[in-house]
Amino acid sequence: MKSIQSNIKKAKKYLNNNNCVAVPTETVYGLAANAYSSIAVKKIFKLKKRPLNNPLIVHYYNINRLKEDCDINENLLKLYKKFSPGPITYVLKLRKNSKISKFVTNNKKSVAVRFPKHKLFRNLLKNLDYPVAAPSANISSRLSSVKASDVKEEFGSKIKYILNGGQCKIGVESTILNLLNKPSLLRYGGLDIKKIEKILKKKLLINTNLKDKISPGLFPLHYSPGIPLRINIKKSKKDEAFLLLKKRKSNLKNYYYLSKIKNMEEAARNLYSILRKIKNDGFKKIAVEKIPNKGLGKTINDRLKRASKY
Ligand code: TXA
Ligand code: MG
Repeated sequence: MKSIQSNIKKAKKYLNNNNCVAVPTETVYGLAANAYSSIAVKKIFKLKKRPLNNPLIVHYYNINRLKEDCDINENLLKLYKKFSPGPITYVLKLRKNSKISKFVTNNKKSVAVRFPKHKLFRNLLKNLDYPVAAPSANISSRLSSVKASDVKEEFGSKIKYILNGGQCKIGVESTILNLLNKPSLLRYGGLDIKKIEKILKKKLLINTNLKDKISPGLFPLHYSPGIPLRINIKKSKKDEAFLLLKKRKSNLKNYYYLSKIKNMEEAARNLYSILRKIKNDGFKKIAVEKIPNKGLGKTINDRLKRASKY
């Protein structure tokens, strides 16, 4: 307990001094900085080699603090009550007197916000006088980090501090909704959209293929293990790692499994670490079998499709 508090104190000190630290969330690790400080936020872009036109998600402890920066609407209140803290991000209207750095939003009138669930990160947020901008803790277009050691692998000694919170429980990024007008989906993620539609009592508009003004960050190439990846494959080639959804009877050397039984939550949780492992095991190519497009299978397929653009 004592060491947890001292680690949080350490992270806080770095953040207060305008430095970046890696933080655990229930989805993936984030590369965090003070969202009100342009000096701090610019360091995120530099470390990640991220284009400045790709805005960041701002993380809050709760909705009371959010009110200083954003306009609250009915849909947000409904969804917040049911799903936050948790793996969902809302795009909202930025208030004129908000203190959020213009580098976070790429000068836009909207901002993406989220309330993360991981205990350590919540404890940290509660103790800060500002919200935290945090993209996934990986070099731009690469695999996100789901363990402290992944963050190390991505940034080496360039990162000042990693708040180690173990392995991320969900393992894929948050689901992003645009709540500026009619609710629409900008990114498939850790929360099944069926559950969201049930609360809103209507179908979401799906805007996940737009690589345009709404979400310049959703470039087609993303989440790449850094080696070619083919999807919807029935039979792998000799030199390929073969990524399968569930354990098979014949267990070949190049077989990797997303889950023991056919469980989509488990598969999503394992996705990035297995892709990372395949690469670190020395494979130069990956084939992936067809994944059912249901529940979190939609999120897995979205990530695999983008990774296949390598
Ligand atoms: O689970 C997550 O969401 C993780 C953890 C760390 O919270 N964060 C994350 O951030 O995945 P990042 O930066 O890797 O992805 C955020 C996405 C980007 O594609 C960005 O373009 C989009 O959110 N985005 C940010 N602000 C936006 C805005 N105002 N309007 C539309 N899209 C926005
Ligand atoms: Mg990312």
